[in-house]
Amino acid sequence: MKTIYSHSDDDNFAWIYNKHWGPYANQALPILEQLMLPFLPSEAHILDLCCGTGQLATKLIAKGYSVTGIDVSNEMIRFARENAPNGDFIVQDARHFHFPRTFDAAVSTYDGLNFIMSPPELTTVFENVFESLQNGGIFLFDLNTEAGYLYHWEDGTFSIVEEDHACIVRYEYNADEKLVRFDVTIFRLLEGWLRTDLTFYQRCYSSFDIRYALNLAGFTDISIYGYHDELGLTELSLESERMYIVCRKS
Ligand SMILES: C[S@@+](CC[C@H](N)C(=O)[O-])C[C@H]1O[C@@H](n2cnc3c(N)ncnc32)[C@H](O)[C@@H]1O
Repeated sequence: MKTIYSHSDDDNFAWIYNKHWGPYANQALPILEQLMLPFLPSEAHILDLCCGTGQLATKLIAKGYSVTGIDVSNEMIRFARENAPNGDFIVQDARHFHFPRTFDAAVSTYDGLNFIMSPPELTTVFENVFESLQNGGIFLFDLNTEAGYLYHWEDGTFSIVEEDHACIVRYEYNADEKLVRFDVTIFRLLEGWLRTDLTFYQRCYSSFDIRYALNLAGFTDISIYGYHDELGLTELSLESERMYIVCRKS
């Protein structure tokens, strides 16, 4: 079975993620403001699934919401606790968590659920979210689409180079398996240059896969939108490189 990065590699990846990618979580805020927040009580309790380094939680807490974040990575959670000291953060696997009916809403942003490697596991994650929501609760998440992988991640590399760190990412999309493999090499100048290598995978799901899994878990009122960096939410099309999904526990 494919796994995400191992915990020994976790420290440096979480450090890089916190610095360079975590802030992108803010791009999701206008979407939440459009599709979810107006329908919640003003002091709603929100579950942030695969919360990463907690930048989105910080924004939600500043708006008066309570946030519980879960993430499988100890280091991501350590940064989340630093970034959002008023949040509640728990190291938990999205495939295995259980909360009683607690939350008014659940979110998962910036490809968190592309880290779930198979349709049955995705259904289990949705069942866990369903169980944790109050009746009427809203679940909103985004996913990279196959078009996104084909246009952005089919085969190639990108890098970040700064004074005291560098990160090189090589990626390759396998259309048969619907998996992108990311090989990441990180250099950090600590007492000397420290090198870390890790590999992780993302899987893409079609809108059909997602509707099917959400229906199995019990969700209704499912809407799926396309997303474009400049245009924001759009109608979902074969060219959409990311999608936002919103549904309800009715
Ligand atoms: C691309 S990051 C997104 C983080 C955050 N949602 C954001 O918007 O920045 C994906 C996160 O999913 C977490 N993750 C991957 N598999 C997971 C799982 N099975 N259960 C919980 N978290 C998981 C990773 O540790 C990582 O923090």
